[in-house]
Amino acid sequence: MKILFLNGPNLNLLGTRQPEIYGRTTLADIEAQVRTRAAILGVDVEFRQSNHEGQLVDWVQEARGRFDAIALNAAAYTHTSVALRDAISSVGLPVVELHLSNIHAREEFRHRSLIAPVCVGQVSGFGAFSYILALEAAVNVKRSA
Ligand code: DQA
Repeated sequence: MKILFLNGPNLNLLGTRQPEIYGRTTLADIEAQVRTRAAILGVDVEFRQSNHEGQLVDWVQEARGRFDAIALNAAAYTHTSVALRDAISSVGLPVVELHLSNIHAREEFRHRSLIAPVCVGQVSGFGAFSYILALEAAVNVKRSA
């Protein structure tokens, strides 16, 4: 089984970006933690990050036939991107929405996720551990399908 982790804008800055909200763990550290857990679960993972909406749309589209599920931290595009939502609707793969912070406990504009209705579920608020939970969720969705 292969799970694709996609990370949206500004997540390349994790570690130094608003550490009071997002913690001090870098995206590379998170990837290492996910890889350790993935090895225990016996699955492969691939990690990507882009600041560009169209690149994320391309990666979602290209995942069909190459990956079994997607774990997606769409970052700010969560709240704005109809294009990403349409790509998720079209790809025919389970997508787990994930966030480091609890988006529902933050500014009102973050409460609405345009992608939530087309994802299998949402993990939000557990810091770097949200990525482990999203991995577990994605694997479970596939294994119990
Ligand atoms: C985020 C939450 C978003 O609202 C924000 O724009 C991000 C990160 C999170 O992981 O908590 O960039 O997706």
